[in-house]
Amino acid sequence: MTTLFDHETVRDEFPVTRHMLYLDSAHQTPLATRVRVALDAFYAEGHEMAGPKPIWLRRVEETRTRVAAFLNAEPCEIAFTKNTSEGLNIAANAVPLRAGDNVLLIEGDHPNNAYAWLNLKRKGVEVRFVQLSSDSVIADAETFAPFIDERTKVISLSHVTFHAGQRHDIASIGRLCEEKGIYLVVDAMQSVGVLPVDVKALGVSVLAAGCHKGLLVPQGLGILYVKNGLDEMQPAYVAMSALANPPADYVARPDDLQLRKDAGRFEIGNFNLPDLHALGAAIDLIEEIGVSNVETHVLALGERLIAHLDELEIALVGPRSREARSHIHVLDLPVQPWFDYLTREGVRVSPERGGVRISFAMFNTPADVDRVIEIIRKGIVALRTVPAHAAG
Ligand SMILES: Cc1ncc(COP(=O)(O)O)c(C=O)c1O
Repeated sequence: MTTLFDHETVRDEFPVTRHMLYLDSAHQTPLATRVRVALDAFYAEGHEMAGPKPIWLRRVEETRTRVAAFLNAEPCEIAFTKNTSEGLNIAANAVPLRAGDNVLLIEGDHPNNAYAWLNLKRKGVEVRFVQLSSDSVIADAETFAPFIDERTKVISLSHVTFHAGQRHDIASIGRLCEEKGIYLVVDAMQSVGVLPVDVKALGVSVLAAGCHKGLLVPQGLGILYVKNGLDEMQPAYVAMSALANPPADYVARPDDLQLRKDAGRFEIGNFNLPDLHALGAAIDLIEEIGVSNVETHVLALGERLIAHLDELEIALVGPRSREARSHIHVLDLPVQPWFDYLTREGVRVSPERGGVRISFAMFNTPADVDRVIEIIRKGIVALRTVPAHAAG
């Protein structure tokens, strides 16, 4: 395995690695020391100096610029939200949709994406679920093309799926959407910070993600990209922060409801300032390594894992090929008893609908892969079980 960065230095940033075998970054990130230091510094400022808030707000704008550059967007295309679901709901309620219009989703994709659009059924919007033949198949333009008609207004899907680690071909779907005049809404919760996400290259109209996985900060902060020029997208909720001319005297002006033109029109009230402060430190860490190097690293760990799984005759629920994979691997093992067994052995993974989910991050190493495989090998004997696929 090539050394893309100094694993030991990165590992040192994550004290969790000294306490357990953490293979669950697709669930939530453990905190890096420098992220904690940034949070502590924020709390110390609040504790000792009560802010001051204007300084904190200036940092919000610095972080906005950092996030924009990270996604190859403009700062005016970035809004801060609470999480992915809020971003997806903002999109669902901002796209001008009328009764009889339809939205295409992938069957089995994250439910929070589905519910944001299903909520529009009461307005007469049709939600069409497109089925993939299996969890090892990825979606591309051809997947959606047969379902598009003149009333199709939106395609919305995850970049990387949480339940199988498929990495959908968003760029090809983006080209199709561009050609047909369809909005492309992407849930990048599982990809941003782990794989390069270039909103322009992907042809995305709106992208939503929380920041508590690949972006390394605690829950409660989301990012929302809204492509410049989509002025017809209007917010369902409005606060003073969304206005083009917020009243300096804090008295609402019924005769001036003009909204900002930038993505800030979707922001409501105060921000998650501690997380925004910490996000700058998190992006520093990712950029020191390089997000492409994080991607190459987690894909190589995946290759090593798959080779070992093949020896043990344990199937993968998701795709095997490098282009279709991500940092997420779901092992076709019965969740019970395997989840409990791995927990007892000090391995943190997630139970998934198709098996046991192992997800990698920048701090995982080939030794982590070998260790979990050794534990699984022993488990096969200890649990006197056979891989689920072999049992059938
Ligand atoms: C693909 C995907 N979308 C959305 C979510 C939920 O995100 P949030 O809690 O940020 O709304 C998750 C997992 O937490 C996810 O994996």
